[in-house]
Amino acid sequence: MVILTKAQGGRRIYNVLPDTERVPADTPGTLKGMDKFVIRGGNPLLGTVRVSGAKNAALPAMAAALLTEEPVILENIPQVRDIETERKLLVEMGAEVELGYGRAQHRTTICARKLSRPEAGYDLVKTMRASTLVLGPLVARMGVARVSLPGGCAIGARPINLHIKGLEKLGATITTEHGYVEARAPRLQGAEIVFDRITVTGTEDLMMAAVLAEGETVMENCAREPEVADLAALLTKMGAKIEGAGTSTIRIHGVSKLSGARHRIIPDRIEAGTFIVAGALTGGDLMVSNCEPRHLTALLQKLEETGVKLKADGDSVRVLGDGPLRAADVSTEEYPGFATDMQAQYMALATQADGSSIVTENIFENRFMHAQELVRMGANITIEGRRAIVRGKTLLSGAAVLASDLRASASLVLAALVADGETIIDRVYHIDRGYERIEEKLRGVGAQMKRIGEMLPKRSGAAVGNS
Ligand code: EPU
Repeated sequence: MVILTKAQGGRRIYNVLPDTERVPADTPGTLKGMDKFVIRGGNPLLGTVRVSGAKNAALPAMAAALLTEEPVILENIPQVRDIETERKLLVEMGAEVELGYGRAQHRTTICARKLSRPEAGYDLVKTMRASTLVLGPLVARMGVARVSLPGGCAIGARPINLHIKGLEKLGATITTEHGYVEARAPRLQGAEIVFDRITVTGTEDLMMAAVLAEGETVMENCAREPEVADLAALLTKMGAKIEGAGTSTIRIHGVSKLSGARHRIIPDRIEAGTFIVAGALTGGDLMVSNCEPRHLTALLQKLEETGVKLKADGDSVRVLGDGPLRAADVSTEEYPGFATDMQAQYMALATQADGSSIVTENIFENRFMHAQELVRMGANITIEGRRAIVRGKTLLSGAAVLASDLRASASLVLAALVADGETIIDRVYHIDRGYERIEEKLRGVGAQMKRIGEMLPKRSGAAVGNS
């Protein structure tokens, strides 16, 4: 494959990804889930890339289907691994879940007529923390819910104490035993809940619990993320009475029953943001389509500060990265502030900006795992507690790197797109949790990127143990 890149001094430069002997990811005999990305940097991204539905809106929406016996039809569901995990979770409880892709256009129909097992087990919760989103809807609908405690994760401790405290306020009796939290309540009762700190899935979980509670619930210090407002839009179509979702005070008048509904999930603002940074970093001319620019305000403002030229028009953002980038500090905050889910990608951009950028992470205590991998590629980054000081501009060079979590993986992909030579990113199963066919989408706009598989080790004489 030959891809045209920058015209330099009248001379056209071509970058070619050599046809190596690497095994395609779907070859029989490759280790399942151990795919890698091979990326050769240097090509500006040109053309149009389409954004999928928001994973973090789709996950609570699927959980909301537990609140009714009738079918809930969700459109614009992204084809990512977390959605498949949630499907398994709902099926284990007894729900019928059809997941249609291709011509069925990313649609899912969930029917929770009979729920036999109101439980989210450890095996699924440990692979996806958002499984805890079933706690509220299950206790509201069934009077009981048993959910494995998620434990810590790569980016922080991430407890669910605020979900539990809120459910207690709504009248649930909580017991914690053998790593599981169990909530019981014959019928939840409306209450006043003030969140000690802002929590996205906590707000969503308690909103789903309160819609079937008796009486009024007022929740203060709520998350204002667009995903919370999208969930409220779905619940309202199902018959819930909710005011103020998307603001810090949400009022809910409980109803006794909810019905089925059809709802289209909002575009993924983090996937959109990742592509916008890719366009800016590679000096491209990229149209990021099917997104919601209003949800990207903090990112777009920050990128303009760094010198990126942007034009938002309807449901797309055009990014022109033809000038030098200037350093700019960033500090993550709850929405509408700069998203923690864009911090790692911004750090990749900061390595290519002239000057020092201070990146402060305020939401999670351990979300700089990508920094050391970027340093291996040549970045100059110093971590001081919650702050990362990125000194640019540094030439990045391709290297073997390890993805540690979803957004860290995205940051490594971005760095690889501008690095000199070839980068191999290991553990891309992290990126598959939340980005739909990212290699195909980026290849479609000129990136040299492919997915390869890792062959199972060959048997050597004696039987291979499986302990
Ligand atoms: N927190 C508590 N107690 C709680 C809940 C949260 O102390 O009961 C703390 C957390 O430890 C964290 C802060 O509050 O320090 C904010 O956490 P939040 O609850 O808002 O995070 P989350 O709901 O678990 C969602 C997204 C994350 C995103 C965060 C912050 C989903 C499924 N996940 O997580 O997305 O980073 O909000 O915006 O919506 C991702 O997509 O890569 C991802 C990690």
